[in-house]
Amino acid sequence: MEGGPPIFLEGDKFSYAGKFIRKDTGKILAKSGEKIIAAISFSADRNDKEIVWIRYIVVEKNLRGRGVGPKLLSYAVDNLMEQVELIKIATNNVFAYRALYKSGFEYTGKKTGISELVLEYPRDQTEERYLEGIGTFQLKKCLTDEVIELLSKRDIKNMPIETLFRL
Ligand SMILES: CC(C)(COP(=O)(O)OP(=O)(O)OC[C@H]1O[C@@H](n2cnc3c(N)ncnc32)[C@H](O)[C@@H]1OP(=O)(O)O)[C@@H](O)C(=O)NCCC(=O)NCCS
Repeated sequence: MEGGPPIFLEGDKFSYAGKFIRKDTGKILAKSGEKIIAAISFSADRNDKEIVWIRYIVVEKNLRGRGVGPKLLSYAVDNLMEQVELIKIATNNVFAYRALYKSGFEYTGKKTGISELVLEYPRDQTEERYLEGIGTFQLKKCLTDEVIELLSKRDIKNMPIETLFRL
């Protein structure tokens, strides 16, 4: 699986912006007009060419919570499954965990060496496994006052993605 061109995201608008400068990962982008609003980077598993890892998924900070992440993930899944049999991702972010479930990923019960939860697609999601994953997050620490305030303001009807594409 080939890499892709560097993508320059503004550090004040995107988490992990520096990770998208790497040329050894493929990129899948969501745009609103000419503006990139979300991005995924991915690369092949080191040992199994039938497996691809989503290395990072980021949504512009002020557009989070509006379904952009799941929509980009669903596009990425359809695109990548034409080339591989399994997609993996590791996360320690409860919001990413929720977005991944909406796109059909499931917690495998395994963790990486740095305690990130490993999720895979495709899988038959079960509520039991979902809750097992949720139980590993310390929800009280995740849900700060700032996030609760943001949640109360989000507008899920206003989906900003206009185009989705792989580089
Ligand atoms: C993780 C991420 C990609 C999710 O994308 P998204 O477009 O916000 O996904 P959703 O709209 O489905 O929101 C997912 C959950 O985030 C929470 N959320 C809602 N609004 C939010 C906001 N303003 N800020 C943060 N989280 C919010 C909600 O709980 C939501 O789930 P729910 O709608 O089922 O309650 C995005 O939050 C992000 O870029 N995070 C920073 C980068 C990161 O940590 N990436 C994952 C590791 S690689």
